[in-house]
Amino acid sequence: MRTQVGIIGAGPAGLLLARLLKIQGIDSVILEQRDRAYVESRIRAGVLEQGTATQLRDAGVAERLDREGLVHEGVEIAAGERHFRIDFQELTGKTVVVYGQTEVCKDLIAARLAGDGPIVWNAADVAVHDIDGNRPRLTYRCDGQDHDLVCDFVAGCDGFHGVSRQSMPADLLRTFERVYPFGWLGILADVPPCSHELIYARHERGFALASMRSPTRSRYYIQCSLDERLEAWPDARIWEELQRRLGRAAAARMVTGPSIEKSIAPLRSFVSTPMQSGRLFLAGDASHIVPPTGAKGLNLAISDVHYLQRALVAWYKTGAADLLERYSETALARVWKAERFSWWMTGLLHRLHDETSFEAQMQIAELDYIASSRAAQTALAENYVGLPY
Ligand code: FAD
Ligand code: DHB
Repeated sequence: MRTQVGIIGAGPAGLLLARLLKIQGIDSVILEQRDRAYVESRIRAGVLEQGTATQLRDAGVAERLDREGLVHEGVEIAAGERHFRIDFQELTGKTVVVYGQTEVCKDLIAARLAGDGPIVWNAADVAVHDIDGNRPRLTYRCDGQDHDLVCDFVAGCDGFHGVSRQSMPADLLRTFERVYPFGWLGILADVPPCSHELIYARHERGFALASMRSPTRSRYYIQCSLDERLEAWPDARIWEELQRRLGRAAAARMVTGPSIEKSIAPLRSFVSTPMQSGRLFLAGDASHIVPPTGAKGLNLAISDVHYLQRALVAWYKTGAADLLERYSETALARVWKAERFSWWMTGLLHRLHDETSFEAQMQIAELDYIASSRAAQTALAENYVGLPY
């Protein structure tokens, strides 16, 4: 088989790249190791930057997003019983949209399968070859048979555990990493949210986040230890812990109910540079991971794709290679700033030390400062709504 761009991974990065390329008349084949049902039910992020929503609109896949997405003009920050609000709209003129990553993927898959081109589901043993020449090649197994896909370019959009990053020359890669000594326990339930905006809470028992997917579906997270087992967290214990950490006002409004999903995720900051070698280009989690506190993971995958599609389109339309050559540098400049923001939000809000420690006092003082300073609130807001592309 032959295509123009071989894409590994049908997550948000791979699917959006394929869609944007197709709009410009460029063909691609997506190889995905899982099946469609799995990809469409994987619960992950929920907050889209304004620029992400714009990208999805430009890709013609935002009809449901514009109908069902919840536009949020601010967030609440809680520290014990003290609450204050960051007003994005007022401070930056921008907003975010709450719309699940799962829904983004469903919309992109529907558009792809309506005539854009193939997604090969259950593609096993995907391997990348010949990235230093003009005809890179992907091999994989599907339905018990070996396949070969010759392309002009390979886009590695296969997430943190994929093969793309491992296919880059080892002596070229530099990696930067921070692993945090805690995780997030997430719960999804069909109950109305306790607040019409998200609440990020610092508490002496640990961080908590109140989020949502719709007016009738809530998503909550609590900081937990890394060796925590889900069996030790029946729903009632999670609700009780959320009520403690989010403060009395939120607790009073919290509607509890049976969970429809529960999971524990580790927190990690990770960047692998460069994002390109020869004809192989990485985008999204394949190249970098952020801790979820700043809601940046999905949004970064989308901004990488913006730069990559722009560079590929320029090459196909005019033969110009400069944007492709600068892709890694351009994308990483934005990646590092989102890494910094996510690391900072994580450090500000999570329990790392005893409440009597110096570090805890620094967190409290910083929150106090943010609560009282328009400049500090603006810095938080402009990062949260998304830095310019
Ligand atoms: P992915 O979504 O990971 O997609 C990669 C795709 O490649 C997958 O479909 C995978 O099956 C496929 N693949 C992998 N290996 C191969 C292979 N060898 N061959 C073929 N296909 C392959 N971000 C937030 O902002 N907020 C959150 O709350 C949040 N929660 C998260 C919870 C979890 C459990 C995880 C893992 C991530 C979370 N993130 C969150 C991060 C966010 O979801 C990611 O940043 C986003 O999914 C990145 O998109 P992507 O397309 O780069 O990668
Ligand atoms: C959600 C996840 C986040 O990491 C975040 O910062 C905000 C919201 C969510 O899943 O809704």
